[in-house]
Amino acid sequence: MNLIFIGGGTMAESVIRGALANKLLGPENISVCDISSKRCKTLIDLYKISADTKLPSVVTRGELVILAVKPQNFQELSGELTSLLNPEQTVVSVMAGITISSLQKNLSHKSIIRVMPNTPSQIGRGISVWMASSSVESSSVSNAKRLIQTLGLEIQVSVERYIDMATALSASGPAFVFSFIESMIDAGVYLGLTRDMSHQLALQTVLGSAHLMENSGKHPAVLRNMVTSPGGTTAEGLLALEESGFRTAILNAVTAAYEKSLNLGNS
Ligand SMILES: NC(=O)c1ccc[n+]([C@@H]2O[C@H](COP(=O)([O-])OP(=O)(O)OC[C@H]3O[C@@H](n4cnc5c(N)ncnc54)[C@H](OP(=O)(O)O)[C@@H]3O)[C@@H](O)[C@H]2O)c1
Repeated sequence: MNLIFIGGGTMAESVIRGALANKLLGPENISVCDISSKRCKTLIDLYKISADTKLPSVVTRGELVILAVKPQNFQELSGELTSLLNPEQTVVSVMAGITISSLQKNLSHKSIIRVMPNTPSQIGRGISVWMASSSVESSSVSNAKRLIQTLGLEIQVSVERYIDMATALSASGPAFVFSFIESMIDAGVYLGLTRDMSHQLALQTVLGSAHLMENSGKHPAVLRNMVTSPGGTTAEGLLALEESGFRTAILNAVTAAYEKSLNLGNS
């Protein structure tokens, strides 16, 4: 399998790193086109892959053409890319919001896979939701699946709306979790903990809680009740969270991200 990346930024690098680390393929099987020659040189130096600023010299060889530019850069490159794609290639888009039908229309190309990964993919601990159009050959679906699995867990869907929902929950989610952790650290500092100690306590609390939930298989409400003694400190803190509209704030954040994802698809 040969891979072609259009856009060699953070997400492309996560996929390249995952594919190489898992020995799915070698550096000779990977080509990148990025508009920045500096970025191309960095990728060549780091991964010994080939990289170029010119689309035609990259798009020629490769079964999967991975579109990893920002959604707002897609329109400007779609014209040139359309003229270079051949029908045997499958376009794999990681761009937020852009639908399969919009990709098919803009690229005049039927075989499309749409994937929504998240940032923990950088360390192989991500989760991706993805879908293939009906025209993608089964061998390309299998190859794409093996590639996506190098990023972490994956869920293949047949309802595209789930990808927009995942964009809001699992792809934007890390930013919400980082904001939560940051707030915990600031709260610890407010109480008088050193910043280092507060950082360590907040991070390990989130990591440990997530692992406990995963290992125990228990619902979060059950685990929460287990640490909430009647009339105790945690109950007092939970009341303050409820009074501050914590759950509504999370729901509003995920809903706003979902609506934005739908709007990106319509623009
Ligand atoms: N990062 C994530 O966690 C994440 C998660 C899920 C989905 N995604 C999706 O992944 C895509 C890429 O995100 P990213 O975070 O990797 O962005 P990024 O780091 O900005 O990478 C995009 C790269 O593409 C380059 N580029 C822009 N226009 C180009 C063109 N016409 N031809 C070739 N290269 C071009 C950019 O160069 P310049 O910087 O010079 O413009 C940049 O190096 C986005 O659509 C995003 O929605 C990202």
